Amino acid sequence: MKKDLPNPRRPLVAGNWKMHRTASDTRSLIQDIVKRVERVSYADLVVCPPFTSLPAAHETLGRHSILTLGAQTMHQAKEGAFTGEISGPMLREFGVRYVILGHSERRQYDNETNEKVAAKAVAAVSYHLRPIVCVGETLTQREATETEAVIESQIHASLAAFPPDQIDELVIAYEPVWAIGTGKVATPKQANDVHHQIRKLLVKRFGPKGADIRILYGGSVKPENAVDLMSQPDIDGALVGGASLDARSFFDIIESVRPPRASDHD
Ligand code: PGA
Repeated sequence: MKKDLPNPRRPLVAGNWKMHRTASDTRSLIQDIVKRVERVSYADLVVCPPFTSLPAAHETLGRHSILTLGAQTMHQAKEGAFTGEISGPMLREFGVRYVILGHSERRQYDNETNEKVAAKAVAAVSYHLRPIVCVGETLTQREATETEAVIESQIHASLAAFPPDQIDELVIAYEPVWAIGTGKVATPKQANDVHHQIRKLLVKRFGPKGADIRILYGGSVKPENAVDLMSQPDIDGALVGGASLDARSFFDIIESVRPPRASDHD
């Protein structure tokens, strides 16, 4: 279980639904999640349904503030001739407060380059959306011992223009590409080593306050492996794909970031 962290690194668990759940399926999943997490006070909880499900999610949540909505990407422009794209102000209208940027699936299939991620991150904070900027190496890169270099260049380029006075809003997700949706999970040490490197890079980029930026781990996080991963000192939460589509698994993962209670030591 997670040690009690000072406020800036309050645990965060985000569910990335990817291209799953219609608007009507979204209502029941949101209700199911809310029922389970109602009393969770130790973590920020985010769900990122597809764009078309955001209105249903927003409506279902109503006044419930226990779950916050996130989007899976956005365009950097406010509006314009960008067929198929969605802008920050459009997301805000449905209560969205977070946006995943540079997810490896978007880097791979939709040409979301570091440069685009950098522009989107700046735009996101200007619309009061908290960017969750994803980085991670492929299996080939890990096997060629290039992980450190890849992470460094992704962090450097994806945050190139990020305003230092907005770092409270920034979240980083380390998601090794080889662990996403594959059932292969980084060992807690492999994950923590990269998180530690990222934290150092953030301090180099933003000064001492950079150490307070939350860094999530993602890639086949399941209830069975969450406790070991989340107890690592540099891991501040999780970005969960598949397991976030099941309210019970999502809740079990959330529990893994619960700080120890006095009764745990009895
Ligand atoms: P996964 O996805 O948990 O299904 O591996 C994580 C992600 O892609 O964010």
